[in-house]
Amino acid sequence: MPNIDLIDSFADDLTSIRRDLHAHPEIGFEEHRTSGIVAEKLAQWGIEVHRGLGGTGVVGVLKGKGDSGRRIGLRADMDALPMEEHTNLSWRSTVPGRFHGCGHDGHTTMLLGTARYLAQTRNFDGTVAFIFQPAEEGLGGARAMLKDGLFEKFPVDEVYGLHNDPDLDLGQVSVFPGASMAGADFFDITIKGYGSHGAMPHNARDPVVIAMTLGQALQTIVSRNVHPLKSAVLSITQIHAGAAYNVVPGEAKLAGTVRAFDDGVRQLVRKRMRAIAAGMAAAFEVEIEVDIRDIFSVLVNHEEPAHAVAEVARGVVGGDNVITSPRPRMGSEDFADMLQAVPGAYFWVGHGGSVPLHNPGYIFDDKMLPVGASLFSRLIETRMPLAQA
Ligand code: NI
Repeated sequence: MPNIDLIDSFADDLTSIRRDLHAHPEIGFEEHRTSGIVAEKLAQWGIEVHRGLGGTGVVGVLKGKGDSGRRIGLRADMDALPMEEHTNLSWRSTVPGRFHGCGHDGHTTMLLGTARYLAQTRNFDGTVAFIFQPAEEGLGGARAMLKDGLFEKFPVDEVYGLHNDPDLDLGQVSVFPGASMAGADFFDITIKGYGSHGAMPHNARDPVVIAMTLGQALQTIVSRNVHPLKSAVLSITQIHAGAAYNVVPGEAKLAGTVRAFDDGVRQLVRKRMRAIAAGMAAAFEVEIEVDIRDIFSVLVNHEEPAHAVAEVARGVVGGDNVITSPRPRMGSEDFADMLQAVPGAYFWVGHGGSVPLHNPGYIFDDKMLPVGASLFSRLIETRMPLAQA
């Protein structure tokens, strides 16, 4: 059982929708045009539309033919990245500094394709909530929807989401139970030293030297404190200080991200970061402020829903194309928060692109649109089957 024929028959429409969204990218919480198009399409297909959840979020509700109380949520993210696109595609971004470099335009379109097919066929017994989420790229769109009562207003028994993957081949699916994507903190560290002439550093408490020392010391957390069989990443991605050749600045800032798959490891890293900074502050007689913010939860797939995705995928893309060996990723994904509220699973679907996600040359392969829509649709028909007449 490959793609669903009906979905294949409107694949060209999906490609047009996707390329239009691609040409008009909007970043987190600014998805006004995108969510407008989503709402308009859903309404056009006879789906009940609710707007404004978590700002620009949209939820479509569709009942199947049966009258069971079963309910399943399907989620897609809608936001682009604040970066330039460097491709020569005729549908490339028309907005400077905005680019669908993670393929969320494709995710939105695949969920629209699913909605169109299910609205036309309704061969399922229960209710589907199509969840179009804003601001996945580190701005907390999932949490914003949850805070606005997503699952109180639209309760579901299970929820599913997917991401495109240029590292897999077209038609390959990866899904497995357990921790699948890392939790992430973002941090800012401010070293409040004392400035002086660059030629007279003895008059300063030099925050630049302290920043370099602290940056090195923080690297010992992963190498010396985290259990060798557990994993964590601590990356300092920004260092800011100074503006002149002959001035020791008064302040230096470090910023970056921490990733781990285990909440205990996350706690340990935060504790050690604060302790090392406090020790460094005492040693160098300065003040060091440490601000660590929990941005993404660890994404944990639930056992049974993950197996269900694999089973459905075997039917759509063939058993050889379904990878169920654990391949946890250090990247993060805010669908994790939805999975903490409701059981479900998150899976990866391959495509013909080979440029990495978030690279300025990233290309989304439209051939995967009917694949993703078929997977979502079969998931609904399989998890909420119509009773045989
Ligand atoms: Ni993404």
